[in-house]
This record gives sequence, C-alpha cells and structure tokens, in this order.
Amino acid sequence: MHTETHVSNRWSSRYAYILAATGAAVGLGNLWKFPYIMGENGGGAFVLVYLLCILFIGIPVMMAEVAIGKRGRSTPANAAAMVSVESGHSSHWSVIGSMGVLAGFLILSFYVVIAGWAAAYVLYAGTGEFSAAAANSTTHAEAIGTLFGNLVSSIPQLLIWTTLTVVAVVYVISKGVKDGLETAVTYLMPALLVLLICIMCYSAIVGDFASAFAFMFDVDFSKLTIKGVLVALGHAFFTLSLASGIMMVYGAYLPEGVSIAKTSIMIAIADTVVALIAGLAIYPIVFAHGLEPSAGGSIVQSLPIAFGSMPMGDFVGTLFFIMVVFAAFTSAIALLESAAAYLVERQGLTRVKAAIIAGSGIWLLSLGTIGSLAGSEWAQINFGFMGGNIFDALDYLTANILLPLGGLLISVFAGWIIKTEVVKSEFSLAPWQFSLVMVLLRFVAPLGILFVFANSVGVLDFIS
Ligand code: TRP
Repeated sequence: MHTETHVSNRWSSRYAYILAATGAAVGLGNLWKFPYIMGENGGGAFVLVYLLCILFIGIPVMMAEVAIGKRGRSTPANAAAMVSVESGHSSHWSVIGSMGVLAGFLILSFYVVIAGWAAAYVLYAGTGEFSAAAANSTTHAEAIGTLFGNLVSSIPQLLIWTTLTVVAVVYVISKGVKDGLETAVTYLMPALLVLLICIMCYSAIVGDFASAFAFMFDVDFSKLTIKGVLVALGHAFFTLSLASGIMMVYGAYLPEGVSIAKTSIMIAIADTVVALIAGLAIYPIVFAHGLEPSAGGSIVQSLPIAFGSMPMGDFVGTLFFIMVVFAAFTSAIALLESAAAYLVERQGLTRVKAAIIAGSGIWLLSLGTIGSLAGSEWAQINFGFMGGNIFDALDYLTANILLPLGGLLISVFAGWIIKTEVVKSEFSLAPWQFSLVMVLLRFVAPLGILFVFANSVGVLDFIS
C-alpha cells in the first residue's frame, strides 16, 4: 500500500519552474552526449529524427508527466498510483514512477563520471594545458587527444574527480542548499548560452563551418541505421529528462494556472537550442582538424583545440568548463533528488541518510563506468547487444530501453487509462489543441516507440 505523501509546496512563479526544469534538462546530454552520438550516427538524418522525436513524442510525454505529478501532488510512484485509482484503475501504475527512479539512479552512476571529466577540464584549462598543447600546430589535435586519453585511462584520476562530484551532489541534497544554487543557475544558464554562442562564432571563423553545417543539416537517410533511430528516440527522452521521475516531481510543485503545454514547449526549445549550438561550436573544429566525426565530436576532445588557439583561450576555456560543470551539477542534483525522495518516502529515512545512502550506491556503481573507461578487465563483461562493458551497458539500458519503455507506459497511461476529463482539465487547451495532443499520446508516441523497439531488436524481420 502506498503511504500518502502529499506535496504542499509550490514553485514561487512560472519562471522558477521553467528555470528548474530547464536546469535539469540542459546538461551533459546536450553538451557532451548529443554532439558525439550525432557524429557516430552520421549527422543530418539523425538530427532530423531526433527533432521529430522531441516534437511529436518528447513534448507530449513531458506534458503527461507534469500533469500526472500535478494531479497526484505527490512523489512519482504515489502520484501515478493515485491518478490511476482516481480513474478507477490499478495502483500498479505506480511502476511509471518507480521505473523512472531506477532509470535516474542508473543514469547518475555514469553521469557523475562524465561530470568529473568536466571538473578536471576546469583545472586543465586554468593551468594552461590547452594553450600548451597548441604550441606545435602539427601535433595540436594529437596533444589534446593525449590529454583526454591520460585522464580516462587513469583510475586514480577518474576516482578522485568522480568522488568529488558525488560528495558535492550528496552535500547539496542533504543540506538542501538549493536556494543559493538556484540563484547561481539563474545567471549561469544564460551565461552558458551566451558563451556557447561566442564559441560557435569563433569556431565558425577559424574552423570549417560549412562542412559542419552540411554534416548536421543535410539529410541523407542512407547514413542512418535503425539503431541510430533508437538512439535518437532514447536521446530525446534523456535530454528532456523524461521518464526518470523528475518531471513528475516538478509537476507536483506546479501552481494552478500555469500552462503545462506552453512551459513544456519552452523547456524543449531551450534544451534543443543548446544542443544544436553545441554541435555547431564543435564540428567546425572537428572538420578543420581532420578529425573523424564519429570520434572527435565531443566537448572534451575538440573544443580544447579551439581554446588552445583562441585569444585568452585559457580563460575562456576555464569559464566554459565551469559552466559545463554547473549545467551537469544541476542535472545531477535533480537526478539524486528523485532517488533520495524515494528513499524518504518508502523507507522513512531522514533526508540526510537518504542522500548518503543513494550517493553511496551511485558511487559504488560508478566504479563500473570508471573501470570500463580505464580498460580494466573486470569491467569488460560481455553484455551482448548492449555493448562490451559496464558503461556501454548502463548507457544502452537506460537511454535505449528504460526511458523509451517508460515513455511508452506514460503515453498509454495518459492517453488510455486516465479519464479524459482529468487530462483535459490538467492540460486546459483549446479543443483542437487537446485533440492533437491526445492523438500524439494515444497513437503517435506509443506506436512510434513500439515500432522502433520492434525493428531494432529484429521482431519485424519475421514479418517482412
Ligand atoms: N537531461 C539531462 C541531460 O541532458 C540528463 C537527465 C536524464 C536528467 N534524466 C534526468 C537530469 C533526470 C535530471 C533529472 O544532461
């Protein structure tokens, strides 16, 4: 039986909500993951599919999650159960919430390792490593590659940075020093965007912008595989922080009268813009330095090349990676928040204990990712189609399986299970807009997800 944990606090304004949700959405997914998976999956066609997934699946699922949280006014699993019972269905729909918390927990275990890289890069930039690498122009890209290679092959280095990150996240969650952080983020997020645009302009001038633009926006479907479509779909969920509980948590705090549709669209636009600009900042450098898009399209491998040759590059680089750390940090905090809230609710732990226990679990699990990166034997377990090591398997399991599966359940739940009047009153849209969203939730999202799933595991091979 679910204990009732009614949430009574509310966001102080619509703006506070948008800021928090955008803070959770914008993170390593946009700055680190999107550019490199785009490179791995051939560019243009992948980008198009990703944008379609955001528009037709991501936004409606986000609206559904927020509405469930708001209707239930409780933590994810409880909220889903209550909304289901209210419509005369089983409380087992709480699985939407619990699965999200599990997905968030697994995501955080590798998220903290990558956030640790960004923290290490603040130090590298600050101590002039990027400009030192630029000293010899013929080996410039190589020197940056070595810098990265040395970091990810060193277990002690990875351990230190990851542990620092986990401790910082646990500290913030247990102390609830969120207010100070939110003020910082109010300024840092727009600053990140401005800086990213400046870096993009610099890359456009010194790099090969035309090739980058063509790579990202020339659609050539022959370069896209069905696996690439699954990656694009999974990333749409990942980058918008869907199906991991947090949007239900944030929805529970939503004051009456805030438009769920408008705010969801705004959050999705902000998130997408950051990802596209990150791509446009990185790829001109990749092409100008003859790097492979499938390998070099990452903030840690190509942007430092730009910082090395830019006027005041060490300073700009330091500033940039500080902002990356902050963007990652706000996402990491939101991720731990779900797990900690779950422990408080289900196990009756205090907030501090919950944060420490969840944090310890995440730290332990992060060792798997650290081992995978550093090429340690024990992390190279054969996980079959999910990839050859623990890191790949965690990434695959969350982004390509758990999040789309969660999205499927959420869209079915909102489209078919919850009473239509309830959904209608929460969305408060014009009739035609409501019909459109319902078509997306009832048919487009679930069928689209099922279709991609079926194809990528080869089920449809029997039919064709
Ligand atoms: N959206 C985050 C990013 O792009 C990652 C993420 C996935 C997340 N699920 C989340 C963040 C839940 C906070 C809460 O980096």
